Amino acid sequence: MGVASVIEKYVFGEPFETGAVVARIETAAGLPAVGTVTADRNGFRFTCTMAPKDIVYGLGEANRGINKRGYEYVSCCTDDGRHSEDVRQLYGAHNFLVIAGKKPVGLFFDYPGVLRFDIGYKRQDILEVSCDTADMALYVIEGESAYDIVKQFRKIIGRSYIPPKFAFGYGQSRYGYKTADDFREVVQKHREAGVPLDMVYMDIDYMERFKDFVPAPEIFPDFPAFVSELRARDIHLVPIVDAGIKTKEGYSVSDEGKEKGYFCKRADGSDFEAAVWPGWTNFPDVLNPEARAWFGGQYGLLTACGIDGFWNDMNEPAMFCSREGLAEAENREALDTAEQEAPLVMAEGLRWLKLFNNPEDYKRFYHNVNGKLVRHDQVHNLYGYNITRGASEGLSKLEPGKRFLLFSRASYIGAHRYGGIWTGDNHSWWSHILLNLKMLPSLNMCGFLYVGADLGGFNADTTRDLLLRWLALGVFTPLMRNHSGNDTRRQEFYQFEGPEDFRHVIGVRYRLLPYLYSEYMKAALHDDMMFKPLAFEYPDDEIAARTEDHLLLGSEVMIAPVYVQNACGRYVYLPEEMMLVKFLPDGTISQEVMPRGVHYIEVGLNEVPLFIRNGKGIPVADPAQSVPELDLSTLKMIGYENASYDRYDDDGVTIPE
Ligand code: NOJ
Repeated sequence: MGVASVIEKYVFGEPFETGAVVARIETAAGLPAVGTVTADRNGFRFTCTMAPKDIVYGLGEANRGINKRGYEYVSCCTDDGRHSEDVRQLYGAHNFLVIAGKKPVGLFFDYPGVLRFDIGYKRQDILEVSCDTADMALYVIEGESAYDIVKQFRKIIGRSYIPPKFAFGYGQSRYGYKTADDFREVVQKHREAGVPLDMVYMDIDYMERFKDFVPAPEIFPDFPAFVSELRARDIHLVPIVDAGIKTKEGYSVSDEGKEKGYFCKRADGSDFEAAVWPGWTNFPDVLNPEARAWFGGQYGLLTACGIDGFWNDMNEPAMFCSREGLAEAENREALDTAEQEAPLVMAEGLRWLKLFNNPEDYKRFYHNVNGKLVRHDQVHNLYGYNITRGASEGLSKLEPGKRFLLFSRASYIGAHRYGGIWTGDNHSWWSHILLNLKMLPSLNMCGFLYVGADLGGFNADTTRDLLLRWLALGVFTPLMRNHSGNDTRRQEFYQFEGPEDFRHVIGVRYRLLPYLYSEYMKAALHDDMMFKPLAFEYPDDEIAARTEDHLLLGSEVMIAPVYVQNACGRYVYLPEEMMLVKFLPDGTISQEVMPRGVHYIEVGLNEVPLFIRNGKGIPVADPAQSVPELDLSTLKMIGYENASYDRYDDDGVTIPE
């Protein structure tokens, strides 16, 4: 206690201005008091020792535990759909850590290229952060506790994105909905069975030949009318926007981008080309402010049709192969496919030729940053961030003051101000429910509040029980979306028996929505976390500090979902007396006070449990079919007697002050 909060900034070489930090912080002289830094021709290296019990928090969207100790991680936004335990890099690059020990310290490495974190991998007691060039801005934050350090960090990176209220409803998605009737069917089946729904997502098949912003006219002869038809049923259609713009004469986005010089260029000044879903594409140079503004303006092609939500995909950027990679490839015979629009053949064919997402391609093109050419690999982790920034800035110009639903796959800290993220192509694996849970607080530490995973799993075949258990976690995540790959077992609720179980579990989301929305907004408006590790609230409790499969949600609730197949319940650790609340399938709510300690709780597949902290209470609504249907006049308090709750609310549409 009593440690003054201090943030110091150390600059090495000439760091690229990423825009992650918005507060003005003077550069400190000398070297940080913590750790050892070397910065020279060989690159940058920070090392420090970790005491045996120190916990290392952070890294946002990263693999493994809440405590990151014991492995290596790489910040390099990557399109890799296999998130197994040994994977080191995912889609995000979130270079913030907190070493929580006797004297906690936070470290933010503001560096847009590839950065390696060895957190006790080569040597269990050594933390080493390194990269190949020595152009680094390092922020060192001291504070009373890990939580205090996170709050200070959140203050300097600016307020998190605030989505519209409808975005807290449930969304159904699948790579493979192709016709207008596919979308109608999703809506109809939900409404018929009384399963709530607010959003249906449109994957790449809505586009005409995979052209961003262009709904296929043969599928949607009158797209605005189709959007209105679904809006009349309280459904928002949310189309995908990919980073690569199809190279095609007559396609306005391609023509304009080329004419104005807004695509990323090769060293010789020609437009860089790589194959993605549409065949050959160009990449908008979103690090060039003019090009970014132009790209953001393109969203108007869809907002003019009544669209108010988007998901930005493939913006690491993902590439099946570049022109150069193709030309250099030894085995050319399978390659003619890349000249065609045959996305899957192409993707699979090129994967085994190692042309797929080849890091060498990132050295083949440049950004025009205020007149200076910057090679992509040096700023690679800023690409998805600036796509989302462009979208957000474009949307706010198109309709000032209005909130849009917007989230992305690739990101860097700073992107949290412009949109949310989803955690990409997970699998229908039980371990991925747990990974989803563990990422939540780490993402919040880095500013990302509007987050969620593909519920039910994107790759591999789901099962009914996996989906129900995952939904029972998804009930709490701000982005609650069931999404799956086109070659997997279908996983809309109506593919399985017992619709009443899904109606109930998804329904609990809506019953909790007034609370969840309030906690989200409080976290956003006060630069706070919505999901915290137990240690952040119970710092002196050794068991709580090591408990990674429970989380605190807001100030009132603890969650501990079931993530094991065939389990009938699970063990939980209560760091204080709490009330176990179960939303039961008959619509009733059971409440039972439990003392501090370890308990086994039974949880049916169709039940959603949560714990209310000692003395607290939360509001609960009656079930509703959509967010606008929620009736706030019938809210009831559950939890401890006489507990009060200060509920935040607003119109959910305009951006608050
Ligand atoms: C990759 C995305 O991660 C996934 O969600 C999407 O379905 C496919 N691209 C196809 O667009």
